[in-house]
Amino acid sequence: MSNGTAPSISGLSSSVGETVTLKGWLYNRRDSGKIRFLVLRDGSGYLQCVVVKKEVPEDVWESSGLLTQETSFEVTGVVREAPRQEGGVELGVTGLTVLSVCHDWPITPKEHGVDFLMSQRHLWLRSARQVAILKVRSEVESAIHDFYHSRGYTKIDSPILTPAACEGTSNLFETQYTEDEKAYLSQSGQLYLEPACAALGKVYCFGPTFRAEKSKTRRHLREFWMVEPEVAFMEIDGLLDLAEEFIKELTTRVLDRRKDDLKRLERDTTKLEATATRPFTRMTYREAIENLAGKGFPVKFGDDLGGDEETALTEGFDTPVLVTRYPSSIKAFYMQPDPADPEVALCVDVLAPEGYGELIGGSQRIHDHDLLLARIRQQELPIEAFQWYLDVRKYGTFPHSGFGMGLERFTAWMCGVPHLRECIPYPRMLYRIYP
Ligand code: 4AD
Ligand code: MG
Repeated sequence: MSNGTAPSISGLSSSVGETVTLKGWLYNRRDSGKIRFLVLRDGSGYLQCVVVKKEVPEDVWESSGLLTQETSFEVTGVVREAPRQEGGVELGVTGLTVLSVCHDWPITPKEHGVDFLMSQRHLWLRSARQVAILKVRSEVESAIHDFYHSRGYTKIDSPILTPAACEGTSNLFETQYTEDEKAYLSQSGQLYLEPACAALGKVYCFGPTFRAEKSKTRRHLREFWMVEPEVAFMEIDGLLDLAEEFIKELTTRVLDRRKDDLKRLERDTTKLEATATRPFTRMTYREAIENLAGKGFPVKFGDDLGGDEETALTEGFDTPVLVTRYPSSIKAFYMQPDPADPEVALCVDVLAPEGYGELIGGSQRIHDHDLLLARIRQQELPIEAFQWYLDVRKYGTFPHSGFGMGLERFTAWMCGVPHLRECIPYPRMLYRIYP
């Protein structure tokens, strides 16, 4: 039998009464005289395996006594109902073979500092909490693809090596492309999606994104995964609806399919349930600064909103909050000004409740060639590098809009994990690139 079809713990509830053989690692062991309770983990779940001394051959009893945490082994036994166990089953062991004894497993139940755990990330991944987070992350990824595919979007893979900045020049990763040409790791696939939406209508990209963040915060990684839709002829109101529908669908999916993982993470899902069912609050930046003034934050028009302000703004709301129409002066060069209030841009930041901060940033794009050219000049960006981007406005220009959502931000919020470093398999942060 190939490994792909070998029985796994997660599927055992349909095998009650059958004899199965499983492979995995020891998660935990409890001895009580003539009975041993082994917890096997195989990545799909956890299974209590009961070894009774007088019911197994001598060598099986002895082998079971050698099992230390993370020892790999093969176990055979009869699946039986056990309502109090996870998955509702346990295994009555009849055979057991040790594959490789694990000595000195470094991650013990004592409290380890985060630095230690981060340097052991390749092993820390095996802990139940990390496994649950990664399962939620993977569910979100697959829900993202389903969301766009079921709505007729085409996936466009934006390049990672790019000739110019998309989201400002302060956090660019630079690399030598050829002897006399530099390239930059992509900060966003957006600029490449815009021409593609003129070809395909509704497109999205989903890939790694790089920002040389110079400070350590719990909400910033230097390499993160971003999903970005871009839609031809969509204007700001359509974009707000898309963002809300998107978050609702992903949240519903996580609540439906990753219940056990959320439980393991001890996630209080009340606010996630509200997000899945209730309309989101929407407010403009002008309303937001008034709201903040009432909460004792002296923010004036033109100030950016930091993490503390974002947290204060979402207090009292169970769902994400869509903050629209920020001043153009604090937003990216490509954002369409509001014709009714030209100091502000037709943009949105979606803020998560519970202090998880900005999940989504997006906008309607400037589609007028000359206005965009003026913006590029004003920001002193290299015009030659943006010629192709200007071309989109030259040949049958059209209003269009899109946004970007960070996968780790969304996963962190779903899981109730405050720091993004646990929401990506191998985090890249300031002063941390190992392992
Ligand atoms: O708001 P941002 O910078 O928007 C853009 O990059 C646009 N070009 C997207 C678009 O319109 N197509 O980033 C979008 C999202 C943020 O809301 C956040 O979720 C995430 O990307 N993000 C980060 N996540 C982790 N670490 C970082 N350093 C991040 N910077 C942004
Ligand atoms: Mg942003």
